Amino acid sequence: MKITITGTGYVGLVTGVCLSDVGHQITCYDIDQEKIDLLNSGKSPIYEPGLDELIQKNIAIGRLLFTADVKEAYSDADSIFIAVGTPPNDDGSANLSYIESAAIDIAKYITKDCIVVTKSTVPVGTNEHIGRIIQEQLPADLKVKIVSNPEFLREGSAIHDTFNGDRIVIGSDDQEAGKTIEEIYAPFKLPVVRTDLRSAEMIKYASNSFLALKISFINEIANLCEKVGGNIEQVATGVGLDKRIGNKFLQAGIGFGGSCFPKDINALNHLANEYDYDFKILKSVIDVNRLQKERLFHKAKETLGSLSGKKVTILGLTFKPNTDDIRDAASLKMIQDLLLEDAVVTVYDPVGMPKVEKLYGDKIQYGSSAEKALENSEVAFILTEWDEIKNLSLETFKNYMKKPILFDGRNCFKLEDAENHGLQYYSIGRRPIV
Ligand SMILES: NC(=O)c1ccc[n+]([C@@H]2O[C@H](COP(=O)([O-])OP(=O)(O)OC[C@H]3O[C@@H](n4cnc5c(N)ncnc54)[C@H](O)[C@@H]3O)[C@@H](O)[C@H]2O)c1
Repeated sequence: MKITITGTGYVGLVTGVCLSDVGHQITCYDIDQEKIDLLNSGKSPIYEPGLDELIQKNIAIGRLLFTADVKEAYSDADSIFIAVGTPPNDDGSANLSYIESAAIDIAKYITKDCIVVTKSTVPVGTNEHIGRIIQEQLPADLKVKIVSNPEFLREGSAIHDTFNGDRIVIGSDDQEAGKTIEEIYAPFKLPVVRTDLRSAEMIKYASNSFLALKISFINEIANLCEKVGGNIEQVATGVGLDKRIGNKFLQAGIGFGGSCFPKDINALNHLANEYDYDFKILKSVIDVNRLQKERLFHKAKETLGSLSGKKVTILGLTFKPNTDDIRDAASLKMIQDLLLEDAVVTVYDPVGMPKVEKLYGDKIQYGSSAEKALENSEVAFILTEWDEIKNLSLETFKNYMKKPILFDGRNCFKLEDAENHGLQYYSIGRRPIV
């Protein structure tokens, strides 16, 4: 069985590498020649712990091939997994142009019947649309079967998640095609949920929307704790021990970002609108998250008055630790707001700086370490809870900053420690230390 993976981003690359690691013959195809060259040299274009080693191992065994040649990718494939991006359009809907262009290529270059599997997150009905595009352009003697197989991996632990996922969702209106894909995944020994096409598409959106809702809910409780008293961490512990609720996604913070939650809940809301359904909870989640991302900035302005001309340090740029992904990260909104205030912005992140530098160039400064970034700073914001940042000694803030005023969007430090070190410390859902 020859398997081609289309798109070597976070999902396609990790899926391809893990499938080859369990013994499949995998060709990973991408239109980005630079990425393919890097991958052929054994290096991952994305930061994902453990990925380089698995790439090198499976290239060496001969089970993993990378190509930017569309003919080589598709002509011999028995199944093709599409894992291209579905970024948001300006109106919040999912941009399906990459998917559509992959479908057109598949129709053009396959030479035998094959199963086309969509791993990308796509609105309900898209798999049928993909099937139509391919079938319309396909020579009459060829047939494709369509399977929806949404992906649930998390950046930063993507390899672990692929081997240890909670479930594999396989949606198809063709039982045999679904069974073939189930067999491909059999070595992972994970629970499989078989559904029809549309239900599989909906499972992905419903899952991400529910997790986003949980985050926004605890953030609102945190905001209320700040007003009425109470400590969000104690509250979340007490709430999370209820097994019906669970303790995951109950960490209050500056809101969610990344390449999935914001775009997926907007796309689901857009889909609901298209079908004339007013999805009230989802609209609130979107609103709450937007406001949450601005909270620390407003808190800093309330506390300090103007930030104009002040040296401000941001620690943590990626949307979460252990990834280099900055898509929809809280840092981007913060940098933008601070620049509008004429603050002098210095940033530090263990891996996220090159991507931010591409966006902001010399409009901001880049510290070679957290300490360097904090030097002579008047205010610091923590936006990503990298271990390196969480493990900073509070002495560091005292020693390097002009005045140690810290706005911690990830509750990295204990209130007592901040108090003992004489820091002015503002966090989320906990009393301020002033
Ligand atoms: N990143 C995640 O954590 C995650 C998790 C679950 C689901 N998803 C979903 O998976 C999909 C992919 O996400 P990602 O983060 O891996 O995307 P990405 O942007 O990191 O990668 C997409 C890749 O596809 C390539 N590509 C675009 N058009 C192509 C074409 N026609 N043929 C071949 N390659 C093409 C691009 O060059 C790029 O390398 C999205 O729908 C996303 O919502 C992402």
